[in-house]
Amino acid sequence: MHVALRVTDLTKTFGRGKKYEVQAVRGVSFGVKNGEIVGLLGPNGAGKTTTIKCILGLMLPTRGQIEVMGYDFHRQYRQLVRSTSAVLEGSRNLYWRLSPRENLDFFTGLHGIPLALSRPYSEHLLRVFGLEVKKDAVVQELSSGMKQKVAVACALALRTPVVFLDEPTLGLDVETSYELRDILKRLAREEGRTLVMSSHDMDVIQDVCERVIIIKDGSIIVDDRVDNLLEVFRTRSYRFTLSNGPGLDWHFDLGKKFPGLTVIPQGESMILEVTLPRPSDLYAFMDALRDQGLIVEGIHQEEPDLEKAFLYLVRKGA
Ligand SMILES: Nc1ncnc2c1ncn2[C@@H]1O[C@H](COP(=O)(O)OP(=O)(O)O)[C@@H](O)[C@H]1O
Ligand SMILES: [Mg+2]
Repeated sequence: MHVALRVTDLTKTFGRGKKYEVQAVRGVSFGVKNGEIVGLLGPNGAGKTTTIKCILGLMLPTRGQIEVMGYDFHRQYRQLVRSTSAVLEGSRNLYWRLSPRENLDFFTGLHGIPLALSRPYSEHLLRVFGLEVKKDAVVQELSSGMKQKVAVACALALRTPVVFLDEPTLGLDVETSYELRDILKRLAREEGRTLVMSSHDMDVIQDVCERVIIIKDGSIIVDDRVDNLLEVFRTRSYRFTLSNGPGLDWHFDLGKKFPGLTVIPQGESMILEVTLPRPSDLYAFMDALRDQGLIVEGIHQEEPDLEKAFLYLVRKGA
């Protein structure tokens, strides 16, 4: 197993003294394999940005070890920094008076990549991001979605093995958000780069990432594959379509037995939505329907989503 990133007991405290102290990150440990796409998920203020800034060497951790591509934060800082690129949340990641193409040239140049080597890949990125028509316009005049795409392209253009994106879809309209997610999925998979991405939006993480680390109040509460998490939290929610039933008061009895029941009349038929605590309760529910002489026309199991899992975990504190 090749490890791209290893964080051990990372701790960051802002301010001093009991009154001013903010423990933004509290002893966080995790590893990321080469080529993994990992999401850092958590409510605002959870410590996502602080964690990323510490790994990037933009902030000095209070305690803990960081290793990127085998380079140690303290002993091999220069190599560590050269192995990473990032788009940080809310900050100006670009030169607004330069065009997208000039920004790409500039940032790759800063990284020591000769133009002859950087240009072909930069051109490729401009195409992939749909920025070709705007490649010579000044960034200042681009929409916020396009600016964000240019910023992500500039980070990718450095071709570092590890890329960090802090809230990459924040503030984007729905369409641009979906576009950007698709590009990220494609590039990460095609190029096998390691991608660490933060978001407070579960939908974004569920869509792009294979694995999710959920952070709350500076601590990791979950670190698991997204599909595992969804499986564990496969909500026991079913939707029954009945071909008879309206006008009767049977559902009062049923509602007493199954508190998670909602009845939606639909003309001559009925829709029942029910959440069952255990999978085996499905049999009992079906028996109850049969006892009432109800005819089931269709059963649909509702798809679990990360949002339900996330809310459950954050409330429960895992
Ligand atoms: N430079 C700073 N000085 C003091 N407190 C900070 C600073 N940066 C972040 N914090 C605090 O640290 C906590 C974590 O913030 P942050 O890492 O930005 O969270 P997230 O990115 O998950 O929203 C918050 O309580 C925030 O107010
Ligand atoms: Mg943040």
